[in-house]
Amino acid sequence: MTTQASGSGFPPPGFQVADPESRIPNPGLVARDRLHLWHPYTQMQTAPAPLPIVGGSGVYLHAEDGRRILDGISSWWVNIHGHSHPVLNAALAAQAERLEHVMFAGCTHPPAVELAERLVAALPTGITRVFYSDNGSTAVEVAIKLAIQYWINQSEPQRRAIVALHHAYHGDTVGSMSVSEDSIFTRAFTSLLFHVHRAHAPYCYRCPLGLERRTCTVDCLSNLEETLAHLGDTAAAVIVEPMLQGAGGMIVWPREFLAGVRRLCDRFGVLLIADEVLTGFGRTGRMFACEHAEIAPDIICLSKALTAGYLPLGATCTTDAVYAAFLSHDRSRTFFHGHSFTANPLACAVAVASLELFERDDTLARVKRLETQLLAGLEPLRSLPLVGDVRVIGGVGAIELVTDRLTKSAGGYLDELGPRLAAAFLDRGLLLRPLGNVLYFMPPYVITEEETAWTINQIGDLLEREMVAHS
Ligand SMILES: Cc1ncc(COP(=O)(O)O)c(C=O)c1O
Repeated sequence: MTTQASGSGFPPPGFQVADPESRIPNPGLVARDRLHLWHPYTQMQTAPAPLPIVGGSGVYLHAEDGRRILDGISSWWVNIHGHSHPVLNAALAAQAERLEHVMFAGCTHPPAVELAERLVAALPTGITRVFYSDNGSTAVEVAIKLAIQYWINQSEPQRRAIVALHHAYHGDTVGSMSVSEDSIFTRAFTSLLFHVHRAHAPYCYRCPLGLERRTCTVDCLSNLEETLAHLGDTAAAVIVEPMLQGAGGMIVWPREFLAGVRRLCDRFGVLLIADEVLTGFGRTGRMFACEHAEIAPDIICLSKALTAGYLPLGATCTTDAVYAAFLSHDRSRTFFHGHSFTANPLACAVAVASLELFERDDTLARVKRLETQLLAGLEPLRSLPLVGDVRVIGGVGAIELVTDRLTKSAGGYLDELGPRLAAAFLDRGLLLRPLGNVLYFMPPYVITEEETAWTINQIGDLLEREMVAHS
C-alpha cells in the first residue's frame, strides 16, 4: 500500500491506494450484512452494496479494502471535530470507567449536570432549562409536546395549532413527520399525522411569490403573518429550522426572515421552536443559527453535533417561563415524557468534551475560514449551465442542479442524477450524498484548506463531465 502525494488532483491528500487485489470488499462482511440488515432510507432490492467502513480518523473514513474516503457529509451531518478524535475518545473511555448509564428519573450524574451548565452558558440568552432525549426526532417530539402542554397548563387548551414551513424536515417519528413537509418520506404515513398549518419558507431561488431577493423585503413573511392572524388564539407554536432548511434542499435564509418570525411570534403570543438539530454547534458559522438574527427562541432542539457525532443524544432546551408552567402540586401538570437512555452519561461526557474542544481549538474560527473558502470556490460554478443556484452558509456549501436554467426545471428527490453523482464521487474517494438535485458538501470542521480545495475541484470537474456526457 502506498500513500500518494496530495494536491488538487486525484487522489485526495493522504489517500491510500490499496493493492488492487484487496479492493474487492470483503465478501464476508457485505454478505453477512445482506443476510440480516435493513438500512435506513435504502431500497434494499436495488441499492448498491453498503460501504464496509472499518475505521475513521479526521475527515477520512477507512474502507475495508484500504481506501480512505473523505467524509464530505460529516456522516449525516453529525461529525464536527473529525472521526475518532483522541480527546473525545479519552472522555468516552474515562466516563465508561466511572458510570456507563443510570436512569434519569429520580437520579442525576455529573456529565448531565455539567453539560446542562455548559449548554445554558452557550445558548441564546433566556434559555435556562435542558430536557434530554435520544436524537433529533425525539428532541422535536419533546418540543411539540412541551408546547401543547404548556398551553394546557396555562389554561389556554384551545391553543393547539402548530405552524410549520414549506420544505421543512424535522425527523422521522410521527410527530416530527407531521411538522415536516409532505414528501416521499412521509406520504405512506399521512393517515397517522396530525394537521399542521403551513406557511411560506424564504426559498429565494424559487421564491413562492416570484420575487427577486435583491429587491424584495422578505415579503414571503406575510404568509406566516396571515396564518397566525387566521389562527388567532388557537395557535400554539411556530416551528422552524433557522437559517438553513437541510433535508428540504439546503435552503439558506435571509436573516431578516428569521428576525421576522420572532417578531410575529411575539406579536401573536405564540411559542417559537427553533429546530437546531442540524444548525447547532457551529454548522452555520455561529454557535447557534438563531444568533444570525440575534433572536432567542422559546424552545430549541439540539442533537447531531451535540456529541460531535459520537453517540445519540437529544436536548430540548427552554425558558424559565415555559418551565414554570409545569411546576405545580397538581401532578397532572407534570411533563410525562422520558426514554430509557435519557441523559446517557457516556453521551453527555463526550458532549462536554466537544464543547471544551470548541474553546481549545477556536472551532468557530475554523468554520469561518471554511465558509470563506467555500464561497470563493463554489460561486464560480454558477457559470455552468446545469447549476441553478449556489448557496453557502458556515460549513455548508450547496449547489442546486437544474436541467434548464430558464425554467429552473429539475428532477425531484428520486431523480437518478443524485445516485449517479454519488457513485462517481465515491470512485474518486469522496463521500457525498446529494438530496435529489441538490448537491452539497458539509465536512467535519477539521478539514484542511488543501482538502477543501481538492473537494471543490472534484465537484467542478465532475459537473463539467456531467454536462459533456449529457449535451
Ligand atoms: C433539522 C432536523 N431536525 C430533526 C432531524 C431528525 O434527527 P434524527 O435523524 O437524529 O432523528 C434532522 C435530521 O436530519 C434534521 O435535519
